[in-house]
Amino acid sequence: MTPYLHHPNICFSVFTYLYTPLIFFAYLLIHREISIDKSYLAAPNRKRLSPLIRKLLNLGILEKNYSHLDYGCGFGQDVERLRSQFDFNSTGYDPHYFPISPKNADIVTMNYVLNVISDFEQRKEALLKAWNLTNKILAIATNIQGGINSKNKKTRWETYTKSFNYIELKGFIESTLGYELVRIDKDKFMISRDGYKYDSPMTYKEVITKIEQIKLQGWIPPKEAVIKGYCNDFKPRYIGKIDPNDNPNFPGRIRYYRMYSKIGGLPGKNGMVKCLHIPGGKDGEAMKQAIAAIKRRDEILKIKFHCLKQSFVQEFAGYKNFNFLKNVVTFYE
Ligand SMILES: C[S@@+](CC[C@H](N)C(=O)[O-])C[C@H]1O[C@@H](n2cnc3c(N)ncnc32)[C@H](O)[C@@H]1O
Repeated sequence: MTPYLHHPNICFSVFTYLYTPLIFFAYLLIHREISIDKSYLAAPNRKRLSPLIRKLLNLGILEKNYSHLDYGCGFGQDVERLRSQFDFNSTGYDPHYFPISPKNADIVTMNYVLNVISDFEQRKEALLKAWNLTNKILAIATNIQGGINSKNKKTRWETYTKSFNYIELKGFIESTLGYELVRIDKDKFMISRDGYKYDSPMTYKEVITKIEQIKLQGWIPPKEAVIKGYCNDFKPRYIGKIDPNDNPNFPGRIRYYRMYSKIGGLPGKNGMVKCLHIPGGKDGEAMKQAIAAIKRRDEILKIKFHCLKQSFVQEFAGYKNFNFLKNVVTFYE
């Protein structure tokens, strides 16, 4: 050891100089001020084309005439196969494996990338970057769980993986890009530049105001409420005559209509009921009012869904079944 290092002041300043940055770095790590992104470790070694690429080929969405970019391509094996086996104009970008500047393409794929990014803002940024590179279609595959309480967990490589709730994913992507997310398979989605565009997505406050305006027009049935037609064919009401409410193909049958909601919430004379009779048949005044009420309900559901700033999961947290989304979501197949 060099003699002058024995001087206590010199020893102290060398220690300070060398170790302070390390101690500070350790402190930040412990307090999660910084994180070391290990998401590249989650890249799989693919022995064949990924399910997302196969699905896009089967649906004719990815074809030879189109250029393709795999955003977050991992080892780039999809790109390699598309180029060598199918002669596609395919390129890949990955911040770890292929950190080259990505070029615009007709079809951009994000294959299990969004779920490996733990920070919300970074996830949003990656989505926007991929979309800005998309000429026609951005196809996304990601972890999806049915339940509302899906847990985000660590993988066996100690990397982060998020399980999106479907509503959360739809909310996140549509509110970020302003275009409709279309489901093409259980965990596969696409957003098309030619798809439905939400021209003026609303803030949460605007949504509430709009909903209040719709409520002023009349009562709102619960989301379960449906209008049902009932028939009773064992006792013709008009023997030898035609019932004005009849289907002409089945003369003599009595037909009547009801609004039904299994959770109740329909305004009866003495409080809320599960079943409301709709007098006057399908062309009657009561039926017109019932249909108008259902339309108001559907309008509210759609508005809620396309609002820009709200926590979608919390908004729908009480909902166990999402059947009402059939009216809102287009299923591709
Ligand atoms: C689960 S792997 C999937 C790799 C590849 N898409 C596949 O399906 O084989 C996730 C990849 O996303 C990449 N990644 C992480 N953060 C990213 C970001 N912000 N933008 C683009 N890619 C990212 C990682 O480097 C990793 O290779």
